Amino acid sequence: MSSDLAAQQGTDTSAAPAPAPRLTGFPRLPADRPARVVVVGAGAMGSWWAREVAASAVAELVGVADLVDGAAQRVIDQSGTPAPASVRTGTDGVDLALELGADLIVDPTVPVAHHPVTVKALHAGIPVLGEKPVTETLPEALSLVAHAELTGVPFMVSQSRRFFRQVRQLRAFVASHGPTVMTSAFFSLFVEHDGYRRSQRHPLLRDMGIHAFDTARYITDADPVAVTAVGARPDWSVYSHDATVSATFEMSDGSLFAYHGSWNARGLPTWWNGEWRIGAQRGSATWDGTGAPLLGTEDEEETARLQAAVAAESAPEPDQIAASLVEFVSALREGRTPMCEVHENVLSFAMVEAAVASVERGQRVEIDELLEQARSEAIAAEADPAARELLQSWTSVREALAAGQ
Ligand SMILES: NC(=O)c1ccc[n+]([C@@H]2O[C@H](COP(=O)([O-])OP(=O)(O)OC[C@H]3O[C@@H](n4cnc5c(N)ncnc54)[C@H](O)[C@@H]3O)[C@@H](O)[C@H]2O)c1
Repeated sequence: MSSDLAAQQGTDTSAAPAPAPRLTGFPRLPADRPARVVVVGAGAMGSWWAREVAASAVAELVGVADLVDGAAQRVIDQSGTPAPASVRTGTDGVDLALELGADLIVDPTVPVAHHPVTVKALHAGIPVLGEKPVTETLPEALSLVAHAELTGVPFMVSQSRRFFRQVRQLRAFVASHGPTVMTSAFFSLFVEHDGYRRSQRHPLLRDMGIHAFDTARYITDADPVAVTAVGARPDWSVYSHDATVSATFEMSDGSLFAYHGSWNARGLPTWWNGEWRIGAQRGSATWDGTGAPLLGTEDEEETARLQAAVAAESAPEPDQIAASLVEFVSALREGRTPMCEVHENVLSFAMVEAAVASVERGQRVEIDELLEQARSEAIAAEADPAARELLQSWTSVREALAAGQ
């Protein structure tokens, strides 16, 4: 987390591990004015992003783009921006950003558009704060890693759940009481979504899994190695494919992360964050997904001290996408790599795709095998010769991702 973000949040993050910031070499954004932002994609998330940009102390909304006639203007009208008439609209977000001299684009387009929009922006020298998932497919995600390396232009994927105070507190707890041995996230909420999710393959993993998987990596500070997953489709489900899934990940520190999720069970809903239990060497924690986490050790005094420290953190702070925006702008101002930069993010998306592959194959799937298969597909599909050469030059995907962080 940046010092700016910690200062805005008024919290002590000293307990969390803080590696030296990695500098990017990309020209720094001036800190004496708000960042000029174009939002690309004026749907549900684009509306939320426009409101957050308009309300942010570190950014201003200068443009909104969408392919659909009238959509961009509707998003501007509901954004609360102080001078809506001065916010420009367009159909191509990158062209609009270049025309307006924007400092960055926020990209809440549909996942299939993430790759083309981001490649164009990076080659135009415009930093990108993209929505999750990084792309529609894993080969596309690796292609974007290559384009980010080639251009040296910052690209962060917004994983909004990371920016809850409680998630940061759980990470700090694990840093001082870990390593973990078993972490579980249980998500159960009866939802009958309309639209594409009804016919999508593995809609729960693709829509919700990514949030829990990225959160688990962040809390435990461990990366996925392999997964075994199974899905269920009860006959009352409105979804064509499994919206109930159980997945167990083997993590790089030898621990297990178990995810159980369902859109099919009525009653006793969890919050959207799910319910968590984290078991570690020197203590355990539970979180109901909304209130303060409960922290426990075998020492009563220490437990009371930890719980008091959590309760003391009550000042309002930006969270979710508002905090994500602060993190990206702070990183651009400080010339450092932001949290959730694409190299760091790809493994969260790989967890989704590996769980999907495990459900489909009915067997355990190794993340590295999936990453290397995706690299072959990315090389075959890559239109840019320099990006293709870069993908071919990696010793392994895992090493390339680690080297870029
Ligand atoms: N962080 C979260 O909690 C969260 C929640 C919901 C959705 N999301 C993510 O946000 C993204 C958008 O989701 P949504 O629900 O807003 O979808 P949506 O369908 O409501 O909106 C997407 C918009 O993008 C536009 N678009 C598509 N291609 C474009 C292009 N090339 N240029 C400009 N506009 C383009 C579409 O016309 C549409 O208006 C997805 O990646 C989704 O996973 C994140």
